[in-house]
Amino acid sequence: MRKITAFILISLLLINTLGGCGKQSGVNTVKKSDEEELVINDTHSDDGRNIIGISMPSQSLERWNRDGQFLKENFEKAGFEVLLSYGNDLIDEQIDGIEYMLESGADLLIITPIDASSLENVIKKAASSKVPIISYDRLILRSPYIDYYVSFDNYLVGKLQGEYIVNALDLANSDRSYNIEMVSGDPADNNARFFYDGAYDVLSPFIESGKLIVPSGQSDFFRTSTSSWSKELAKERFENILNSYYASGKTLDAVCCANDSTALGTAEAIEMDYTGENTVILTGQDADEANLINIKKGKQTMTVFKQLSNESIVTLDLAIAMLKGDNPGEDLIERANWPFECKFDTTSYDNEKETISAYLLTPTVITKDNMYEELVGKGYYEEDAAGNLIAK
Ligand code: BGC
Repeated sequence: MRKITAFILISLLLINTLGGCGKQSGVNTVKKSDEEELVINDTHSDDGRNIIGISMPSQSLERWNRDGQFLKENFEKAGFEVLLSYGNDLIDEQIDGIEYMLESGADLLIITPIDASSLENVIKKAASSKVPIISYDRLILRSPYIDYYVSFDNYLVGKLQGEYIVNALDLANSDRSYNIEMVSGDPADNNARFFYDGAYDVLSPFIESGKLIVPSGQSDFFRTSTSSWSKELAKERFENILNSYYASGKTLDAVCCANDSTALGTAEAIEMDYTGENTVILTGQDADEANLINIKKGKQTMTVFKQLSNESIVTLDLAIAMLKGDNPGEDLIERANWPFECKFDTTSYDNEKETISAYLLTPTVITKDNMYEELVGKGYYEEDAAGNLIAK
């Protein structure tokens, strides 16, 4: 097994954003090419520890910074050497980072794909060097070499969003109809379809019975999708919807929005272009700090919280078992005895080559009423001087 001394983060742009999250102090930069720059942290000793390569999609979304941080900390605490790279939302950059990990002797890879279907070749390379792969949070598609998938129950995330809207509008007991719009995620991300299906399966009986109306007529997954989960694209699409279908004073009752980045864009569009007086029910996912502020202000109604440090703990325990040569299943959950819910699923995640065994954690609904209890009370966030919740 090769040993290395470098901790690497790829891309100058990413380095510039590190100050923002403040989680990667003490690193040195080395010029590699005009576009790319390596950040080298020479603190690791050349002592033969197993090397874990972690490839995250982007630092532009709050959560992946937290995931990278939790994974790095947990693996290092357990005695591993960690190579962490961010793909900057660029597929080639993600592939370069993974190739570097393989060249550096990574013993196991943890990958969250930017585009689920674009990693086939680099994964093949990993497989030919017998490097096992955990697909983290998002499933890698079209590869027969994915060993495990660790995520939250993505269908349940969408279901919770749909159920929230059904309950908030009291659709089961109400005689009148309500107007709703859908904002879905990135079709290149396998999760986006699960979120949509979870929500739509709850909402569609009410759409069919006429209790929910979609005035834009845009309700299928692709027509409501948002490339790269972009806040700006979600905002642009929603401005168009408001100006085209609601300008004459039609009431917008709810927006089933797949995550917090798209919910931020949608909330901005509503604030600028919606003329109605009512508070629009707006869902989200991730409990991003800016969205928690919006929830406090009433600009967003709920978010689905996924405790990322738990996701990294499951990944760590799974990786340890895999590196020992085990082939864990349900037994990992029994042995680990984690203080949180996690289920082993062998049927839901078909990656178009085979069904991948998955460890799925359970998400939690956060609203204005329970945000302090669930997030601060349970020690995941702290309150700053302005009363805003900051993730720990
Ligand atoms: C994750 C979400 C996230 C979205 C955008 C999804 O794959 O599960 O938590 O909001 O990607 O980054």
